[in-house]
Amino acid sequence: MAIKHVGIVGCGQMGAGIAEVCARAGYTVVVSEVDEALLKRGLASIESSLARAVSRGKMAEADKAMTLKRVSGVIGLEGFRDCDLVIEVVVENMAEKKKVFATLDGVCRKDAILASNTSCLSVTEMAVATGRPDKVLGIHFFNPAPVMKPVELVRTILTGAETLATAREFAQSLGKSVVVSPDTPGFIVNRLLTPYLLDAVRLMDSGTASREDIDQAVTLGLNHPMGPLALAGLIGLDTLYSIASALYEEFKDPRYVAPPLLRRMVLARWLGRKTGKGFYDYPKDKA
Ligand code: CAA
Repeated sequence: MAIKHVGIVGCGQMGAGIAEVCARAGYTVVVSEVDEALLKRGLASIESSLARAVSRGKMAEADKAMTLKRVSGVIGLEGFRDCDLVIEVVVENMAEKKKVFATLDGVCRKDAILASNTSCLSVTEMAVATGRPDKVLGIHFFNPAPVMKPVELVRTILTGAETLATAREFAQSLGKSVVVSPDTPGFIVNRLLTPYLLDAVRLMDSGTASREDIDQAVTLGLNHPMGPLALAGLIGLDTLYSIASALYEEFKDPRYVAPPLLRRMVLARWLGRKTGKGFYDYPKDKA
């Protein structure tokens, strides 16, 4: 099946980024949120990201207008009836995700593919909440979605070969490079990334080194674009915490135990860029 119409459930940081990538590639995109305020904020963030591309000379004003025309917003999931592919990008909570998948299964055409952008949760568990587990897979984008090249396609033991092939073609049409992972906690990247980020928090919390020295050491010493504490702030400390918790839940390996400081920062809503405070302050992002 050729994908033409894409639905995105959730228009937060990742949902908005994925919607932008799809619209820029020529797909018509419907994004949904739970209320008008969140929808307005999500659509505004797509517009401001495109405006940034225009101001940097990466996109013509006319292309921005055409791209925005391809994006529409709805409240709830009823607006996904005509979608060929729907990507779920809601909070990392299995109960919420299963509810979304079960509803989408009732709303969407029988041949539509249902995907999750989950960073760590079991795609199989979401697939079995539907009557079409062969048409369910993970399509995991990286943050910021408009910039980051890879997409992890998560193939469960129930995902059909045709579903995987269609998803691969779709991801490649977005200009992404595809890697395929089985449905294992954290897939490939987060399985490797999480213990590293948690160790950086432990290193700082134990007083071994300052946040600046940790980040600078990694940026310069390993040639990474940003250090681990800055990266945690980009991803979101709540997201890091839920990934770590999901990995620990499945493996019971102490490498995935979230440091107490991380949990307390999440409780305090010091989530990084999205709330304006994390290991660093982000006054402009908050505004
Ligand atoms: N949305 C859209 N575009 C963005 C962006 C955003 N949020 N942030 C940066 N960009 C674009 C800029 O417009 C700029 O584009 P051009 O080169 O075309 O002008 C380009 O990215 C570089 O941006 P900047 O010059 O502003 O800043 P930078 O050079 O410091 O790069 C960065 C910023 C791209 C975020 C870079 O620091 C980086 O790559 N960091 C690492 C990101 C990373 O590792 N992401 C993976 C996280 S793990 C994950 O996502 C998995 C998970 O499940 C949690």
